[in-house]
Amino acid sequence: MDGLIPVPRKLSSAGAEALWRAFGETIGLEALRAAYGPYWPRPAMPDEMVLVFEAAVRWDRSCQQPGASDPMAWGSARPDPVDPVVWIATGVWPQYQRAGLVGRIRDALMARARARWPERLLMASVLKSNTPHLERLRRQTPSGWREVGYRDVPAPGEVFFAFQAPPSMSSAAVAMHSGGSKAALP
Ligand SMILES: CC(C)(COP(=O)(O)OP(=O)(O)OC[C@H]1O[C@@H](n2cnc3c(N)ncnc32)[C@H](O)[C@@H]1OP(=O)(O)O)[C@@H](O)C(=O)NCCC(=O)NCCS
Repeated sequence: MDGLIPVPRKLSSAGAEALWRAFGETIGLEALRAAYGPYWPRPAMPDEMVLVFEAAVRWDRSCQQPGASDPMAWGSARPDPVDPVVWIATGVWPQYQRAGLVGRIRDALMARARARWPERLLMASVLKSNTPHLERLRRQTPSGWREVGYRDVPAPGEVFFAFQAPPSMSSAAVAMHSGGSKAALP
């Protein structure tokens, strides 16, 4: 991943749905559904903010034109239609996994979600079928997040995490508080 900068771009609903289908084809339908739910790939919701993070080549003298197009990761912030909650979800393409990217894109996504829905609680849910990710989050819960509950039914059940920033916290402070991101993401 050296030399690549993940640059976020907001997607239309149709763009988000196409991206999730492509992500599912890459990681496999079974893995997609074990990670996000049996109804995936799903439609994008009308108010949902979906960002794709594309690889831009870091500029240097040997590279006159920064290129961008290769999707590295995606992030979604989905306001609940009733409760004052925004659900955060992320995915990283296999070739960019295991490099700490998810923390960086989560920070960038949260900063935008916080700015757009300042009064809402940011939450994430992890399906119990996504064992490696759940174990990782429990082992290294990102700063500011905490596990707040679970449900067992319907199978496979899910575990809920909430971001505990006070409502008055600015989006920039949220990005810093949520930790992990040392790189300059726009
Ligand atoms: C789960 C997922 C979002 C994690 O994204 P990621 O960017 O790969 O996550 P990280 O790089 O922060 O962590 C992954 C592992 O790489 C390790 N890692 C992080 N930076 C690293 C580096 N620079 N060098 C080597 N390993 C590194 C982490 O310690 C972690 O190790 P662990 O598996 O032993 O705990 C991604 O794998 C994914 O999209 N998976 C498929 C779908 C999915 O499960 N989505 C989540 C639904 S809730």
